[in-house]
Amino acid sequence: MDRDSLKRHLEFYRDLGIRQLNIPAAPVCTGKPAGESPVAARSQPVQPPGPQTVRTAPAVATPPATPPVIVPPTNPMPTLLPVAPPDDSLQKIHEDIGDCRRCRLCEQRNKIVFGSGNPEARLVFVGEGPGADEDATGLPFVGRAGQLLTQMINGTAAKEGLAIRREDVYICNVVKCRPPENRTPLPDEMEICGQFLFRQLLVIRPKAICVLGGTAAKALLGTREGITKLRGNWQNWHGIQVMPTYHPSYLLRPYSQDAKRESWLDLKKVLHHVFD
Ligand code: URA
Repeated sequence: MDRDSLKRHLEFYRDLGIRQLNIPAAPVCTGKPAGESPVAARSQPVQPPGPQTVRTAPAVATPPATPPVIVPPTNPMPTLLPVAPPDDSLQKIHEDIGDCRRCRLCEQRNKIVFGSGNPEARLVFVGEGPGADEDATGLPFVGRAGQLLTQMINGTAAKEGLAIRREDVYICNVVKCRPPENRTPLPDEMEICGQFLFRQLLVIRPKAICVLGGTAAKALLGTREGITKLRGNWQNWHGIQVMPTYHPSYLLRPYSQDAKRESWLDLKKVLHHVFD
């Protein structure tokens, strides 16, 4: 991470009210430019920084005491640890987001889409970002893709004999404001908003997270691997199991018959893992 990016991160954490950061003793250096950075925490299990075990963040210009560990580029994404203030809660995260102006997505949004569902859910679905219907209502996944997601959750659960409905899970997105023309969120937008997503996930601490589509997979797993390769295989984010699958809006396309079948298989796997 270059000096400007580091400065931006530190300012961002300061704006969140975080005065101290838990800096790992041996910082990980991937040797990649910060411009390529999405939200990306590493997909290997890493203990989130305990709010009580903080150390003072070093001054920006101070070189690290221990030499950086150079990690071979098997996972080429630079990492960003989730940082949660002590006694965090969904309400506090919502308040911290406030009338957010931290990135350009605020310019055209109508409503911030925080997330909805059971705050103690054992399963969380993470999408990419709000579309037009979500931007209008302030609720995630209420448009066509959302209706399909609801149908998939309710339908699969019923078919599998599990007493689970959409209201029992929690649903949120990587970015909380609608990207113009529904474009893919940019790395800096994902990085800024991603900290709020990380905090939501750390507060809820579900048994599993289902990431919907490549953007959500990249945000959590820090991988450049496409969703077609990732889907159906369990991953790990800070000790929570993560199942990547296709985004429901992809399934709405007429040529995605195979993807539909695979998505139902993935969802079945997740629901049984969490609710059996
Ligand atoms: N697509 C998403 O990724 N999220 C939503 O909330 C709606 C559509």
